[in-house]
Amino acid sequence: MRKLCLLGLTTLVAACGGGGTSGPPAETDDDFPLPLAAGLAPTPPMGWNSWNKFACNINDAFVRGIAQAMVDSGMKDAGYQYVNIDDCWSLAARDANGSLQHDPGRFPQGIKPVADFVHSLGLKLGIYGDRGIETCGHRAGSEDHEVQDAMTFASWEVDYLKYDNCPDPGPNPGPIIQPRFEAMRAALEGSGRPIVFSVCAWSFYEWATRAGHLQRTTTDIKNLWTPDPNSTDRGSIITSLKTNQPLAAYGGPNQWNDPDMLEVGNSDNGAGPVTDVENQSHFSLWAIVASPLIAGNDLRNMSEATKAILTNKEIIAINQDAMGLQGALTKLTGEQSIWAKPLNGNGERAVVMLNEAATAADITVRFDEIGLRGGAATVRDLQAKADRGSFTDSYTVNVPSHGTATLKIVGAEPNRPRGTAFLSDLTPIYAANGLGPVERDHANGGSEGGDGSDIKIRATTYAKGIGMSAPAAVIYRLGGKCTNFSAQVGVDDSSTAGMGTVRFRVFADGEMLFDSQNVSGTAPAMAVNVSLTGKKRLKLLVTNADDGNALDRASWGDAKVECEP
Ligand code: GLA
Repeated sequence: MRKLCLLGLTTLVAACGGGGTSGPPAETDDDFPLPLAAGLAPTPPMGWNSWNKFACNINDAFVRGIAQAMVDSGMKDAGYQYVNIDDCWSLAARDANGSLQHDPGRFPQGIKPVADFVHSLGLKLGIYGDRGIETCGHRAGSEDHEVQDAMTFASWEVDYLKYDNCPDPGPNPGPIIQPRFEAMRAALEGSGRPIVFSVCAWSFYEWATRAGHLQRTTTDIKNLWTPDPNSTDRGSIITSLKTNQPLAAYGGPNQWNDPDMLEVGNSDNGAGPVTDVENQSHFSLWAIVASPLIAGNDLRNMSEATKAILTNKEIIAINQDAMGLQGALTKLTGEQSIWAKPLNGNGERAVVMLNEAATAADITVRFDEIGLRGGAATVRDLQAKADRGSFTDSYTVNVPSHGTATLKIVGAEPNRPRGTAFLSDLTPIYAANGLGPVERDHANGGSEGGDGSDIKIRATTYAKGIGMSAPAAVIYRLGGKCTNFSAQVGVDDSSTAGMGTVRFRVFADGEMLFDSQNVSGTAPAMAVNVSLTGKKRLKLLVTNADDGNALDRASWGDAKVECEP
């Protein structure tokens, strides 16, 4: 029964104690809308970058032309604002004062006049630098010149810095590169100009979520749907999507996971190899996983299909939603997957259903699997910009090969908890986990639901609780009627003996109420007991404590809330 409850089968959810269609009637919910987060990147940055299509073929007139096209094509109106110059704008040598120099063959007047032009259009200028001694294109890097270079960028009125990771730092690069990225973050903050910091370290590091406003989670994307079987380079749209997916719990305001820039439009006009259907999927998936939306195509010359994909305001709205959550993989069945996240409105969910198979397939989304109560919900197709009507419990649509359905579903939020309620009996409105689903009344196991062992921390077993694999997050609705949350937390005994280090945090309405600091695999269970009076949402977060250990099974034994009856 517990396993079936976990899988969310409608008929059995009520038996799990909450969220089912036979419970109390849906309540009105005054939780929404939430205000936008503070900071330079409260929502994923949107713009364009020169690298994916043009590499080093850049110059002053070209960048101005792209900026003008961003306005003329409707991209600016859709929300894109950063015009980002990537590698090759500078020289290998510094000038007599030790400052970075623009390449006079490409930018004869320097960068400041380009920034002025971009700003005159109501847009922002981004530039590229590197944490090492040279960029990947063998131009001067900023190592040991961080403060000087940040001041240079600020003097040019640059608004965004993508900071790269050359020369190749070799195996176990984290400890070597971390201080270099952190030095540039500090230098930018000391520059006196607000500059978005894009950490491009080719792989995820937990420290990068603090150093940057966005952090690359992947190696370089390629303009391919799946990797080239004849190449050792595994880069592709699907590769980047899947590498980025288990990191969902880290994504959020001012720390967006970056699965790399968009390839949409780089197969335009029959150039292949990515089809319009695949490009739509690429865009819908980047939108729902709250990726930065940095176009990488020729904005001066877009097909109608590409323009329609990139400027779809309804899909952009799910990316820019103020809840600031990275859409989680909520269901994976063979080659079909469902990605979902709550939006900043009562009962609102964004859903992308992806079909990776070679033939079209029906995909069904069950409303109780995306954190709704089940029952009635309305469905809008954001790709077709068409209302599909009202449906009960689920919605089924035929999705083409390599295609997506991109939906906004509006239904009833789960009812608030009543009395003493175990979290494992409630329906979370959001659940993201490093490996497979967040488990109810089990430790995390592998990628399947219910495949873990009993929750056990230092040989004490907990019949009730939540099992996670870091990084992971769950969010529950409280309705402002609860007084207390308590649990016993620790690395689960099912992690390889004594291994794994995690950090447990509890938030309510954005306020941190509990922080375990780093908890090792041998530490005793730690008691959590926090007041929730008046709070509307409870978030449990587990992170990797910087060690990135794949055995970070983190359990919340006896996790429960005390609420009004
Ligand atoms: C690295 C980055 C790319 C691009 C190039 C430029 O490969 O990951 O995004 O900036 O360098 O040389």
